[in-house]
Amino acid sequence: MKQKVGVIGLGPIGNLHADVYAAHPGADLVAVCDVDRGRTEAAAARLGVPGFCSVTELLAGTGLNMVSVATGGEEYGSDHYEPTMQALAAGLHVLGEKPICNEIDRAEEMVALAAQRGLCYGIDLNHRFTPAARLARRWVDEGRIGPVLFMNISMWIKNPRESSPWFQLKALHPHTVDIMRYFCGDIDAVHCFAMKAPGRTIWSTAQFNMRFKSGALGHLSGSYDIERGHPMERTEVAGLNGRFVIEDMFREVTLYPAGNPEKTVYTNPLFGGMRDFGDTFINRLGRFVEQVNYGVKPEDIDGSGADGLAAQKVLAAAIESVQTGKVVAVA
Ligand SMILES: NC(=O)c1ccc[n+]([C@@H]2O[C@H](COP(=O)([O-])OP(=O)(O)OC[C@H]3O[C@@H](n4cnc5c(N)ncnc54)[C@H](O)[C@@H]3O)[C@@H](O)[C@H]2O)c1
Repeated sequence: MKQKVGVIGLGPIGNLHADVYAAHPGADLVAVCDVDRGRTEAAAARLGVPGFCSVTELLAGTGLNMVSVATGGEEYGSDHYEPTMQALAAGLHVLGEKPICNEIDRAEEMVALAAQRGLCYGIDLNHRFTPAARLARRWVDEGRIGPVLFMNISMWIKNPRESSPWFQLKALHPHTVDIMRYFCGDIDAVHCFAMKAPGRTIWSTAQFNMRFKSGALGHLSGSYDIERGHPMERTEVAGLNGRFVIEDMFREVTLYPAGNPEKTVYTNPLFGGMRDFGDTFINRLGRFVEQVNYGVKPEDIDGSGADGLAAQKVLAAAIESVQTGKVVAVA
């Protein structure tokens, strides 16, 4: 079965989603939608599909069974709630952009409605869908890392937008916290320090200490202050049996077996490898389409709404930690 897909929200990211579906053999891109008429008309003409300026109209006559919600709003997440709830209420599977929502209680409603309707709900936690991350996860599953002791991750990207004070924590770190949870499981306590870089009014750089439920320790550094160009993400997981390092989510992953000087390196292949960051969307959206087509249970969705919500709860605890100076238990 092919998914009949619509894309809601036609900024750069929604257009990227639409391109991925248009090229995917398991999906038919049927329609696009944005409340901005100019964006709707431009995307509809470019993609050769009907365009709608309201979600109600989109859902009325297009026979969709799945949508991407690539809206944005406050903290990149306030506009996701309404179209997601509308699409779920109409019985559609939903792949939403991160953060799942900028408000936890609304994110809970979104996850609850998907579960109640038995629909697949995924979040675009694209960093976990690269071949390098999948290989590293296989090493974890095979016991080649062993009981995990610690994890370090850092991610930085220039984003000069001066909006909510918590923009960087809430909008950048769904990615990094998801990678932490992907390799090491749930996080139960957080301490966070944050700073305002010179000239900035928001908490644009932050460092977090985490404790996982397993007892392992985690550290995260992140910033919206550093220009793009050089590498922007590094992940390290260490256990009793070995340690791996992923450079830039897909470029390279190296396994250092404990007590063995021979390391194993996977390098993104020049032919057939990922060309750039945009390709992470192909893997993530493709995986969602394939899981829905295959009929996986909603609770088995890889990078689910529940995963997106769990990451946001860790970030809410981190914000409380910045405000109070205390270690905060994750709700
Ligand atoms: N996964 C990633 O790696 C990644 C990278 C960058 C951005 N993002 C996320 O992608 C999302 C979109 O980013 P962008 O830069 O394209 O944003 P954008 O603001 O340029 O575009 C969002 C569009 O959604 C439209 N919209 C808002 N509410 C709507 C509604 N109810 N119905 C129809 N249209 C509606 C707006 O008019 C706007 O055109 C954000 O949530 C952001 O966090 C994800």
